[in-house]
Amino acid sequence: MSGFGWTSTTDEVLEGKDLSGMTVFITGANSGLGQETARAMAAKGAQIVMAGRDQAKLDEAVAAILASVPQAQLDTITLDLGSLESIRAATSRARQQFDKIDILINNAGVMATPFEHTHDGFERQFGTNHLGHFALTAELMPLIERGSAKRIVNLSSRGHHMGPVHFEDPNYQHRAYDPWSSYGQSKTANVLFTVGLEQRFAVLGIHAYAVHPGGIETNLGRHMTQDMRDALMARISKSDTGFAWKTIPQGAATSCWAATAEAIEGKGGVYCEDCHVAQQDDESTTGGVRTYALNPSFADQLWKLSEELTGAKFPS
Ligand SMILES: NC(=O)c1ccc[n+]([C@@H]2O[C@H](COP(=O)([O-])OP(=O)(O)OC[C@H]3O[C@@H](n4cnc5c(N)ncnc54)[C@H](OP(=O)(O)O)[C@@H]3O)[C@@H](O)[C@H]2O)c1
Repeated sequence: MSGFGWTSTTDEVLEGKDLSGMTVFITGANSGLGQETARAMAAKGAQIVMAGRDQAKLDEAVAAILASVPQAQLDTITLDLGSLESIRAATSRARQQFDKIDILINNAGVMATPFEHTHDGFERQFGTNHLGHFALTAELMPLIERGSAKRIVNLSSRGHHMGPVHFEDPNYQHRAYDPWSSYGQSKTANVLFTVGLEQRFAVLGIHAYAVHPGGIETNLGRHMTQDMRDALMARISKSDTGFAWKTIPQGAATSCWAATAEAIEGKGGVYCEDCHVAQQDDESTTGGVRTYALNPSFADQLWKLSEELTGAKFPS
């Protein structure tokens, strides 16, 4: 047991840690969980590279963090995960500007979007949440290899319970689009990517962790229609779900834990929730990780598919 749990906050999880000298790259750092993760790790001395697609939003987030952590070392980088060209441009700048990345937190995400496509023609949730981060991580790998902590944290979700990756038609070209099954597919892909990273890079001391942060009121729900919102609230307010909202510092705590906890050093390829490693469970609706999300051959299949679709190649 980690000693932390559902109610733990970022500051509690990081208490006593010294992150000075560490460079932490966080996607979606201008909002919600990413911004709180940046604040909390900056307060412990880490240099934070805050990636987001809108410089004005990044500037606002930087100002908000500096207001509570005046000594924070913050850099920003514009990055649209829905564009391979933007990813290549951002990572090329990152490689010029930074010597290393100790911890990469692939946090950005969209949820329950209408049927839309990224610049490269991928369905938006699969394209942004998984393929964008796959290509980003491949391009940043030389910097991560030079880091000391060598951790990659991928924000997944309990939403992965909604379904596996549909390998024949990940972009919904030949099946009816459903915003929730698409979100579920993308969040399962985040776990399988974690498994794939561990399979390939553990030998270099690089370890990957998938995280379910909990249910937190952020900007993530912005694409839901009122009907979708009502249906979701009706589902989660049933007493047997045991659902309760976390605060943002509680929600970002599992990311901070997965990024720094000594107890899981060298033990990646796992899915974490409430600041511990979750068990495999194909029945529970209140926790655990589905077997299909940890399946090593699915992870391999997703890796090959992602390479084909994005053209991204990890250093071998
Ligand atoms: N909140 C929850 O209850 C919950 C539950 C389970 C999992 N999660 C996961 O936690 C992560 C963080 O979510 P959050 O709750 O903090 O949501 P949020 O407040 O909406 O933050 C999402 C971040 O992702 C960024 N983003 C979206 N599309 C992008 C793109 N194409 N390129 C670059 N950045 C992009 C957003 O930037 P803009 O501001 O420019 O849109 C924003 O900074 C997500 O991966 C989400 O799936 C959250």
